[in-house]
Parts: sequence; C-alpha cells; structure tokens
Amino acid sequence: MLPAVARLSVRSRALPGVASRAFATASSADASTEHGVKKFGVVGAGQMGIGIAQVATSVVGLPVVLVDTSAERLEKQIAFMGSVLAKDVAKGRMTEEQRAAALDRIVPATSLSALAECDFVVEAVSEDPAIKLELFRQLDGVLAAPAPGAVGPILASNTSSIPLTRIAGSVSAARATSVIGMHFMNPVPVMELVEVIPALQTADEVLLRTEALARAMGKTTARSADAPGFIANRLLMPMLNEAIMCLGEGIATPEDIDTVMRLGMRHPMGPLKLADFIGLDTCLAIMRVLYNEFGDPKFRPAPLLVRYVEAGWLGKKAGRGFYQY
Ligand SMILES: NC(=O)c1ccc[n+]([C@@H]2O[C@H](COP(=O)([O-])OP(=O)(O)OC[C@H]3O[C@@H](n4cnc5c(N)ncnc54)[C@H](O)[C@@H]3O)[C@@H](O)[C@H]2O)c1
Repeated sequence: MLPAVARLSVRSRALPGVASRAFATASSADASTEHGVKKFGVVGAGQMGIGIAQVATSVVGLPVVLVDTSAERLEKQIAFMGSVLAKDVAKGRMTEEQRAAALDRIVPATSLSALAECDFVVEAVSEDPAIKLELFRQLDGVLAAPAPGAVGPILASNTSSIPLTRIAGSVSAARATSVIGMHFMNPVPVMELVEVIPALQTADEVLLRTEALARAMGKTTARSADAPGFIANRLLMPMLNEAIMCLGEGIATPEDIDTVMRLGMRHPMGPLKLADFIGLDTCLAIMRVLYNEFGDPKFRPAPLLVRYVEAGWLGKKAGRGFYQY
C-alpha cells in the first residue's frame, strides 16, 4: 500500500493544492523519526481528551498536563481513568505500581498557562469551530515561541472535521507550521487508528514527529489530506446520518436498524448506538461541516438528529440518545 502512495506523492508533488499535501513526504524515512516529546499537554478532559491523556502517561510514560474549564470534570475523568487502569491491573496488563505512577504523572489544571512548558499539546475540546479557533489563538500566546526557522512545540487538534488549514490560520505564521490534525478514535485506549492530517502550512518534521508519537502510543497511522471529514468521517458520518434518516422516516426501530448493520454487515456496533457513543452533538457538528464545506445536499443533517441535540439527548454521555444509558 505504501509504495503506491509514495509513487503517487512523487507524481503529485508538483501539483498545488490540498490533495498532494498529505503525501509530500517520502514514507521510507518515517519510521526513523523520533517524537522527541518530554512534556505532553491535553486540552479538554472529555471522553477523547481523557483517553489521549491515558495512553500518553500509561503507554509512553510521559508527564501530562490535562486542562479543562471544569475542575469537577477533571476530577471525575481522572477518577474514571484510575478505574480503567485498575481493570488493566486486574487483567495482569500492568502492576499496581505502574498504575499509581501513570496517575501521578497527570497534572490537572483549569488554566492554559499550565501548558507553558509542554512541547506537544493535543486539543480535544468540543467540536465547535469558534471555541477551537479562539483556543488556538490563546495557546499561541502560552506555548514557547518557535526559534526562527525552526518548528516550536507541536499543536495538534483532535478535530473530527474542522479544516486544519483554517485552525493553523488562526495562529501566527511562525506557529502555523507546527499545527497538525491528530485524529484519535473512540475509545482512545482501545482503538488502533490515528488519522494524521497535515494542514497546508504544516512542516514535514511536524508530520513525521506526530506519526512517531502515535506509533509510540501503540497506534497505526493513516494520512489524510485536509479535506472535509478527512477519510474517517467522510465515510462514517453519512452512514450514521442515513441510519438516523431511516429512524426519522419510521422505517424501523433503533434496535432493528442496528441489528441489520451488526449481523448483516458484520459491524461490531450498530450505527445508532455508535452515534450515541460518539455524541450526537459531535455527529451534528461533523455533518454541518460536511454540508457547508461541500455544499452538497447529500450531506444534510437528518432532521431527527437536529431535534435530539436540541432536546439535550446527546447520547451516552447525557444518559439518553437513541438508547437509554
Ligand atoms: N466522541 C468521539 O467519538 C470523537 C472521536 C474522534 C474525535 N472526536 C473529537 O474530539 C473532540 C472532543 O470530543 P469529545 O467527544 O471528547 O467531547 P466531550 O463533550 O466529551 O468533551 C469536551 C470537553 O472539552 C471541554 N472544553 C470545552 N471548551 C473548552 C475550553 N475552551 N478549554 C478547555 N476545555 C474545554 C469540556 O468541558 C469537555 O470536558 C471533538 O473535536 C470531537 O470532534 C470525538
């Protein structure tokens, strides 16, 4: 697979535009690059942020500064991480000492200034362009300034759909080369894939070091150009949206829709349950990005999805979505 991509990259390197950018670096050098991270930061301690923090501390052994606006959320989520790691101890995957050390390496904070010494920060706040762009502007002022001509601390976004080139455009030109998409899958400690999305501005060194960090976390990476929904959500989200259309049209019950895809297509989880696990607000935000960016009606959000989000029925995290939790 890789040689084909590499051949494509050689041919497309001269082409301007998004499609050629993801493949601009020769893949043969990738595995020799080291991530070089000494202090890791995560912004947003939601379901994704806590999982990213967990793999950084328990798999890579990095000290992790974990920032959220809500102190209560931080406390609850770190307790949750402790319970997840306790299961790993029970299963013999780690010792109690390793669990305690992993939790000790997590430093919770409610102010972005706690990230000042981090050399790699992953943003995992809510999928709202206004929140993310403002956050990146603030992080630009908090992190160490890049030396002239060099890349600075890497600033990665776990966004599911917001163009990385737009996010990189919200920081100074010197910082923009250090911005990249690092799209983890849910639940982070379990899922093997990390989709890596360079912005047009991203330096090749940043791309290679991000992939090296993902490998150190035990993940396999796939590169995507900075196109709406990247690869994962360009393919997944319209399918989930269509399942919600089926439900809204009264074609079947949630259980029957999910049973068809589980037993008929061998999906491990039905689309409506998966949408509940992702969060219906996140699903709606992604569909809106696809719809607005492509301007194609095939991506219009299902009306029932909009209603559920308006009702606050956001899925598992809210206790109610297409199912009760
Ligand atoms: N849920 C998924 O399956 C999934 C999968 C891949 C990527 N993502 C992406 O990951 C990101 C987070 O999703 P999630 O499901 O963890 O959301 P979530 O709602 O569980 O958590 C978001 C967290 O961000 C915090 N937050 C909001 N604004 C903040 C700010 N300005 N500063 C600090 N913290 C702030 C909130 O308090 C909350 O704890 C989104 O961009 C989403 O698209 C989600």
